[in-house]
Formats: sequence, C-alpha cells, structure tokens
Amino acid sequence: MSMTEGVSVGGRWVAFSLMLGAWLTLGVPAPASSQDSTPTFSADIAPIFQESCQACHHPEGIGPMSLMTYDEARPWAPMIKYQTQTRHMPPWHIDKEMGIQNFKNDISLTDEEIELIARWADGGAPQGDPADLPQPLEFAQGSAWQAEAELGRPPDVVVRSTPFTVPGNGQDQWWEVDVPFDGLDRERWLMAAEFKPAYPDGKKVVHHGHAVLSVGDRRGMGVARYGVGKSWEAYPENVGLRIPAGEGEINWNIHYAAIDHDVVDDVVEVGLWFYPDGETPRLASEGEVLFRADNPDFMRGQDLLIPPHGYQVIQGVHKLESAAVIHSVRPHLHTRGKTMTLEAIYPDGRKELLSQINNYDHNWQNTYTFADDARPLLPAGTMLMITSVFDNTADNPINPDPEQWVIFGRRGPDEMSHMWIGITYVPDEELERLVSERETEGRDIASN
Ligand code: HEC
Repeated sequence: MSMTEGVSVGGRWVAFSLMLGAWLTLGVPAPASSQDSTPTFSADIAPIFQESCQACHHPEGIGPMSLMTYDEARPWAPMIKYQTQTRHMPPWHIDKEMGIQNFKNDISLTDEEIELIARWADGGAPQGDPADLPQPLEFAQGSAWQAEAELGRPPDVVVRSTPFTVPGNGQDQWWEVDVPFDGLDRERWLMAAEFKPAYPDGKKVVHHGHAVLSVGDRRGMGVARYGVGKSWEAYPENVGLRIPAGEGEINWNIHYAAIDHDVVDDVVEVGLWFYPDGETPRLASEGEVLFRADNPDFMRGQDLLIPPHGYQVIQGVHKLESAAVIHSVRPHLHTRGKTMTLEAIYPDGRKELLSQINNYDHNWQNTYTFADDARPLLPAGTMLMITSVFDNTADNPINPDPEQWVIFGRRGPDEMSHMWIGITYVPDEELERLVSERETEGRDIASN
C-alpha cells in the first residue's frame, strides 16, 4: 500500500480546514497579550525541528518537503500542527509512559513541544528575530559517507544490493534479495556500519531497510539498518561484531516508496568499518538478533491465524543462557500488527516491562536505541518475553482487507511477528561490573 494512502487521506481534509482557519486568523489582528506569547520560528520552533524533524525533512531527506528554513516551513504550519498533534509525525511508537524512556535516537515530541507548535501555527506562524535561530544543522550531502567525517576514514569494505526499479507514483515495494558476500581473507571485528542509499533518487525512495550477513559459523547478523535518524551506527567502545573469514551471503530487505518519476536500477550500499587489524574488542556483540514472538526457541512461524474482523495475541519466551546487555529493539509486524511488548522475567521472578510499542505502523521500521545508562542489564537465566497483538478489524486504519483470514508469511498481505534485538552477551563478572557502575552513577545523581 502507498504510505500516504492509509494515513493522510483524512489528514488532508483536516489540513484544509486548518489552513482555512489559519488564513482567517491571519486576517484578524490578535490581541497584544497573545501576540506577546506567540512562539516564534526562530526562537522556539527551529530548535524542535532540528531535534525531531530535519533528519528526514531536509532537501535530500525522505520527508516530502524540507523544514530547514522559515520560508520552507511557513506554508506547512497548519499541517505540521495536525501531524504532530495526532503524533503521526515524527514517527515514534514507543509508549510515552510504560517501559524504558531514554533513547539515543529519541525524536519524539513532548506534550509541551506539541503545544508550542500548535500555538505557533494558531498564532499565524510568525518568524520572530532571525538572530534567535540556532546554528543550522549540516547533513551529509550527495553521495558522501556520513560516518567518514566522524571516523576519519572511508569504509574498509563496501557491499551493494542488486538493482531495483521503483516505478513512479506506484505502490510501495519490498525488495528482498540474497547477494553473495565475497568474504574477508581473515577474521575482522566490525566497529561501525552505514546504510547508504544512492544519490540523488535513492535517498528519496529508500524509506528504510536492513542488511543481514551470514558467514561461516555466524548466521543472520544484522549489520546495518536505515530508518529513523542516523544512517550509520558504531558499536560502543570495546564492543564489536566478529566476522569470520570466508565467503558468505547478505540478505537485503529494502522498503521502497515511490516518487513522481521512475527510479531505475537503484542500488543501496553498506559500508563496513573494522577495528584495526589485530585489535580484538573486549566484548563480542551479536549484532541485531531476531527473536520471534510466537516461539523464539523453535523458530516456528505457523502459529498465526487471524480470523476476518478478529484479533490475535501471540507470545513467546526465550531464556538467556548467558548474561546480556540489550542495546536496541526493532519490532517487525505487518499491517495487522498493533502492539508489541518486550518484558524481562528475572531469575528471582521479578518481571519488568522493557518496551511497549503502540500503534505499530508497518511503514516505519524504527530502531529504538537505548541510552547507555538505560540499556537493560540482564543476568543469565532471565527470560525475554515478547507479546504481539494483531488487529484484523476495520478499525485498524492500515488494514488492507478485514475480510481475509491472515496467516504467517513474508508477503505483505501475510503477517510476521519478531523483534530484532541488539544484544551483547557478557560474562557474569562484566554484568556485575556494569550493574555496580550504574548503581554508583545513580547514587551520584541522587546525592546532587
Ligand atoms: C524519520 C523521518 C521523518 C521524521 C523524523 C519526520 N518526518 Fe515528517 N514525514 C516523513 C515522511 C516520509 C513523510 C511522508 C509520508 C507520511 O506522511 O508518512 C512525512 C510527512 C510529513 C508531513 C505531511 C506532509 C504532506 O504532504 O501531507 C508533515 C506536515 C510532516 N511530515 C512534518 C514533520 C514534522 C513537523 C516533524 C518533526 C516534528 C517530522 N515530520 C519528522 C518523514 C519524517
């Protein structure tokens, strides 16, 4: 389905009436007191757009328009108010009250920010004093590697997807292909990876995607992904992903969204940066690992059977044989998927809700990366429990057809349920060290 169809049709109508409202407001001078308190673009709104919007809404980003300058943002003010109030924008589906709330890539808006944007739009979207503007953000332009500037060198290895054509104004496409991996002549440790769509059109049509590497004894390692926020990621200091020597395979999974013209033979590149030769990081990450909600231990996928106009809940547990640190979560359901919950049941029986994803939207495959001091630290024997809820009723706004029985499958009309979890298994002593480090930090904060 097209990204805009399901979600924005209603929005456009509302946007029209909102624009009309704003136009009427513009014609009538506001009373002096409310004028004083109207937020301005320069002082109040631009900082929010920098935090939460511009990563996508810049001239080369996947957003349909740039929100870098006042002139660019001004005509969109009523629509921006609507899209932020409905929390359709920015795309962020972590429950705001339940579970861990500290993320490295948190682009969500606070209630206060949403309110500020609404008051700005209602107040005629004034510019304010350009001297108040924050320093403009810079985004990697053209075909440059974003990570190169920060890491100080180009990638050691570049791998490519196979050409795919995205017809203009067409349906969204999911391109999944296995491509041989030439292989390394010796074992290396991955330090950082970047997922880079081609310039200029690839940047517009590649909505999100990921690349999964299998080499030798290492299968299904999520090495690079693209979605909300940054297009590259480095492992924490002293953590790496071991890539054995030898040939292998890369499974590409790319979500393409059409633009107004054909994009012929698009190819995505992934750049891999390794630790210097001979240097072994202290901890071996597993990268992003797939955990299934229906049954993570047995990889069975046939338990999904959702009746027409009905619901289904599935749940699975996975026992961690070793202590572990979780870096990130990335839920994966299809159009009937509604919520996904990740819980930890500790060996002493305590249960903790780690992440609650609401209003799951298949158009956004967000990765939620925990802040360093918020990463779940899990002792050996902890059970991870994943619960998914599917809604095949007409109330689900992106349900393509509530009349259908829905089964497990990779195709869009079928359903899937798994979570990619960025995980590093650690020795018990390392976990104890991390736990006591965090307790000390906690005390520092408490004593301030
Ligand atoms: C992760 C990328 C991303 C981020 C971050 C993001 N947007 Fe968007 N935005 C998009 C894409 C892609 C679309 C078009 C598809 C859709 O509506 O889902 C869009 C659509 C919109 C629209 C509707 C445009 C139309 O044609 O109707 C508005 C308004 C908007 N965004 C405003 C914002 C604002 C304001 C923020 C920050 C508070 C923001 N967006 C953050 C990617 C993003």
